[in-house]
Amino acid sequence: MPIKVLSIFGTRPEAIKMAPIIKTLENDPRFQSKVVVSGQHRDMLAPVLNFFEITPDDDLKIMKENQSLSDVTVWIIDRLTPILQADVPDIVLVHGDTTTTLAAALAAYYQQITIGHVEAGLRTWKKYSPFPEEMNRQLVDALSDLCFAPTEESAVNLLKENHQEDQIFITGNTAIDAMKYTIDTDYSHPCLPNNGKFRILVTMHRRENLGEPMTEVFQALAQLAKEKKEVEIIFPMHKNPQVRNLAKKELGNLANVQLIEPLDIFDFHNFAQRCELILTDSGGVQEEAPSLGIPVLVLRDTTERPEGIRAGTLKLIGTKKATVYRETLALLEDPAAYKKMAQAANPYGDGHASERIADILAQAFQ
Ligand code: UD1
Ligand code: UDP
Repeated sequence: MPIKVLSIFGTRPEAIKMAPIIKTLENDPRFQSKVVVSGQHRDMLAPVLNFFEITPDDDLKIMKENQSLSDVTVWIIDRLTPILQADVPDIVLVHGDTTTTLAAALAAYYQQITIGHVEAGLRTWKKYSPFPEEMNRQLVDALSDLCFAPTEESAVNLLKENHQEDQIFITGNTAIDAMKYTIDTDYSHPCLPNNGKFRILVTMHRRENLGEPMTEVFQALAQLAKEKKEVEIIFPMHKNPQVRNLAKKELGNLANVQLIEPLDIFDFHNFAQRCELILTDSGGVQEEAPSLGIPVLVLRDTTERPEGIRAGTLKLIGTKKATVYRETLALLEDPAAYKKMAQAANPYGDGHASERIADILAQAFQ
């Protein structure tokens, strides 16, 4: 009998990093793979599913404009429970640290179904940074039976919390697996003309950065765009209306700032490879950029991805206007400093994390 695996996810980054696992499970006769999406993201999820040609078996369709954390949690548990009761999978797979991840793990726990956590063990050890992701991932690890840690450091974090050693597996990060599907050496795009500009790709969306921190970052970028005509800023705006309204207010009407719709994953990875610099508060982008050798200024005070900092590709700069301006300018004007950061390194795996996870699942249920 094939092992019944039910994968549940709901946001863009979860989909990108679960897709390679789902493709692996689908093509492996040891498994019967089902996919449920919570629909926590609606617009930003669909392009990922299309790109990877994944058709969910169920969609909980929970997204509402400006949804609250408690709404998302309650609706997912409520709508997922009957599916788990009807399907009775051998294992539920969840990914990362979103509210879909936590609610799905909790729903599975209530049904006493085995839980596998992909991207386990990431920590800042700060309860509200990032919020609510740090607490989500700690709780999900506590609920999980199999913890797939992307790096040795994340495995050590789990050991420090007294997780059982035989439940922890170092697999690499499936973000690197996903890049095998996307990176195209012949890629071109109308937003990326060969004009010699210093291109800066920006993404920003974290809840703890909404409001004042985001305003400061956008004002630093506006100042830079006004003063340095050789700079081109490309900002694929997250669908959150709070992000979009602020970006349009602070960065609209600047000739060298492109405020564009979210890019699909094929475009985003190829944009990232063709920009000189990335500014982001994203988790996933911090994993992808080191393997592309593109320097990243991280718009946060903490990171759960210290491997990229040590590799030299990431630098944590926070969100203060003066710091963001100064650090960005330094990379623009100091080629030696830039070169030092632009070293390709890949602390996040060899692109075979999905196969490892499949083998571990097969062994766990043999
Ligand atoms: C969520 C995750 C965060 C993850 C991020 C990835 C939680 C609490 N947060 O944050 O961990 O880093 O996704 O992007 O789980 N919206 C749309 N269409 C979409 C997506 C969002 O309109 O496709 C708008 C809606 O108004 C929605 C709002 O954005 O209410 C916020 O979405 P939500 O999923 O609650 O939070 P994110 O900031 O996207
Ligand atoms: N990404 C994308 N299009 C964009 C911006 C980001 O496909 O316009 C991808 C990016 O390559 C990474 C993931 O989305 O794989 C990160 O998602 P996000 O920053 O929304 O969430 P986080 O990783 O912070 O949870």
